[in-house]
Amino acid sequence: MAPEQMDRLEKRFITVASGKGGVGKTWLAASLAHLMARKGARVLLFDGDLGLANIDIQLGLTPARDIGDVLAGDCTLAEAVLAYEAEDFGRGAFDVLAGRSGSGALGNLAPETLRGLRADLTRLAARYDHVILDLAAGIDPSVLTLSQHRGVVLTVMSPDPTSLTDAYAFIKLVHQRMPAADIRIAVNMAPTKRDGERSYEALRKVCQTFLKIDPPLAGIIRHDKRVTDAIRHQAPLLARHPQSEAAAGISDLLRSLKLTVPA
Ligand SMILES: Nc1ncnc2c1ncn2[C@@H]1O[C@H](COP(=O)(O)OP(=O)(O)O)[C@@H](O)[C@H]1O
Ligand SMILES: [Mg+2]
Repeated sequence: MAPEQMDRLEKRFITVASGKGGVGKTWLAASLAHLMARKGARVLLFDGDLGLANIDIQLGLTPARDIGDVLAGDCTLAEAVLAYEAEDFGRGAFDVLAGRSGSGALGNLAPETLRGLRADLTRLAARYDHVILDLAAGIDPSVLTLSQHRGVVLTVMSPDPTSLTDAYAFIKLVHQRMPAADIRIAVNMAPTKRDGERSYEALRKVCQTFLKIDPPLAGIIRHDKRVTDAIRHQAPLLARHPQSEAAAGISDLLRSLKLTVPA
C-alpha cells in the first residue's frame, strides 16, 4: 500500500488506552462505537486487548470467529468481522472484531505478528469511517505497536492517583515513539465534573513539565451506576439508559473529538 494511502486510513483509527486497567476503556470504546453508528458512521470495533479480550462479553456476543482464528491462519481479518445488532437498531449497528476471551493465548505475540495485524487492520479500515481500538492495560509491546498510528490516541484515566501515573507512563512512551501522536485525555468515573477537571489538570501538568506537550481534554464522564447495570445486562448504555449522566458524557466526548467522516 502507498504510504499516503496508509496515512489516510490510519487517520480513521481511534485508540482507547490507559496504562491502568479497570478505568472503563472497553465500556467507553463500545459506547463510542454505538453512538457513532447511531449518527450514521460505519464503525469497526477491534478488541485489541489480546491477552484478556472481553468486548464480546460486554456486548453479549458469541463470536464464531475471532482474532485468534486470524492469527492461526484459519481465516482473514475481514472474515472474522461480525455485525453487532444493538436493540435500538433494526440492522447491524456496527462491526466487531472479537478477541479470544478468557484464553490469554494472544498475550505474547511476536513483533512482526503484531505489525502484520496492524497492517491488515489498516487495510480493513478502507471499509469504515472509523476504527476503534480497545487496548489492554499496561504498556507492553502489543499496546505500543497498536497505538502507533496517525489517528486519535484517547488516553482514559480515572480520578484514582495510580491511574494518573499509569496514564502518564503510557503517554510518555507513545510520545517518544511518535512525537506527532494526537493524544487526548478522557477522565472516566469522575465523582463530580470538578473532580474530573482536577484529574485532567494534574496529568496535563506532568505532560507539560516533563514532555513539553499539552494534550487536550476530550471529556469527563461521571461515575454512574447505570453503566454497571448496562454491562450486567450486556446492553449498550445508550439504548438502556439514554438519559443517564454517563450517556451525556459519551455524547460530549464524541462532540469534542470533532471527527470528520472521511471522503
Ligand atoms: N462511568 C462509569 N461509571 C460507573 N462504572 C463504570 C464507569 N465506566 C466503567 N465502569 C465500570 O468499570 C468496570 C470496568 O470497565 P472496563 O470497560 O472493563 O474497563 P477496562 O477496559 O479499562 O479494564 C465495568 O465493569 C463497569 O462496571
Ligand atoms: Mg478492557
